Amino acid sequence: MIQTPYYLVDKTRLLPNLEKMAWLRQASGAKSLLALKCFATWDVFDFMSAYMDGTTSSSLYEVRLGREHFAGETHAYSVAWADHEIDEVVGHCDKIIFNTIGQLRRFDAPSRAKVRGLRVNPGVSSSSFDLADPARPFSRLGEHDALAIERALDEIGGISGFMFHNNCENGRFERFDELLSHIESRFGHLIRRMDWISLGGGIAFTQAGYPLERFAERLKRFAGEHGVQVYLEPGEAAVAHSTTLEVTVLDTLYNGKRLAIVDSSIEAHMLDLLVYRYAARMEPDAGPHEWMVCGKSCLAGDVFGEFRFEQPLQVGDRLSIQDAAAYTMVKKNWFNGVRMPAIAVRELDGTVRLVREFGYADFAAALS
Ligand SMILES: Cc1ncc(COP(=O)(O)O)c(C=O)c1O
Repeated sequence: MIQTPYYLVDKTRLLPNLEKMAWLRQASGAKSLLALKCFATWDVFDFMSAYMDGTTSSSLYEVRLGREHFAGETHAYSVAWADHEIDEVVGHCDKIIFNTIGQLRRFDAPSRAKVRGLRVNPGVSSSSFDLADPARPFSRLGEHDALAIERALDEIGGISGFMFHNNCENGRFERFDELLSHIESRFGHLIRRMDWISLGGGIAFTQAGYPLERFAERLKRFAGEHGVQVYLEPGEAAVAHSTTLEVTVLDTLYNGKRLAIVDSSIEAHMLDLLVYRYAARMEPDAGPHEWMVCGKSCLAGDVFGEFRFEQPLQVGDRLSIQDAAAYTMVKKNWFNGVRMPAIAVRELDGTVRLVREFGYADFAAALS
């Protein structure tokens, strides 16, 4: 028995996503790089890397983690690199992608020997949430101006690819297609000068019912018409539905609603839900009894959500909170000193392996 709270990464639930990515590569030629900002639980990287082509990153430490733990290509991207880290970044990566022409100029000399790219912001996205919208007004994410980009390509040289990331939890192929057509109409003449194009993440192509064949055909056509190698940077699509947060009920009370307090905290262990004001997902979520499941931090709104159960909850009951992989384990923190969830992995044969536990020493070491 593993002491709760713990994240349980289930390889049998990860596998269908991985198989779709491998199928997509074979059908379209597009390579998939895991976006480490979303999921960086490196114990399962060997398993994932058999189906994917490498990693992409948002910082020096992610670049290094990708290089050290995930076979295949290592793409380095960051909103801004610092002078003191650029040599190490260049040392770890296969390709480096700059967010601005300014950064490209600044680090021209140390990055010359690498394959280099530039992030381009097409000014449109599939996001309706301002906080996560790369095309929000005044967005700092990538260069917007085709003329300025063209001038930089000519003046600086040595740029062989672009990265576009403007999809966000986009489960509609038609919208993806529209956005790609927009990119082609604005930047097609520059894309044709490139060898590779990354279309970023945010495309929910592993979800049930997504028209994978049409997606593959569109990617293949894009690659063929422009003469480029296409990359995708799936985060959420790679790990969706693979992981749970396993918790235990510590107390129950009635305050006009039935409440259960568990040995975890949405703020400390599933922060992304709180930031975007989403409820967690519980399975099963059916039955006559409705309960609000709450975290144990001091935050008044530390609530996972309201769920239905067959029986009234009791102290000691075990609950499984779903979808705890994407943007969850990477954001866990020590707020309130709540015990950080351990990490366990369910192997394909059903055995569960405890891979990491955190204790007081880790809590103390995070500050000084
Ligand atoms: C540049 C870039 N690539 C890839 C991703 C991964 O996106 P997702 O997890 O939605 O697939 C992100 C997410 O923010 C991103 O900013």
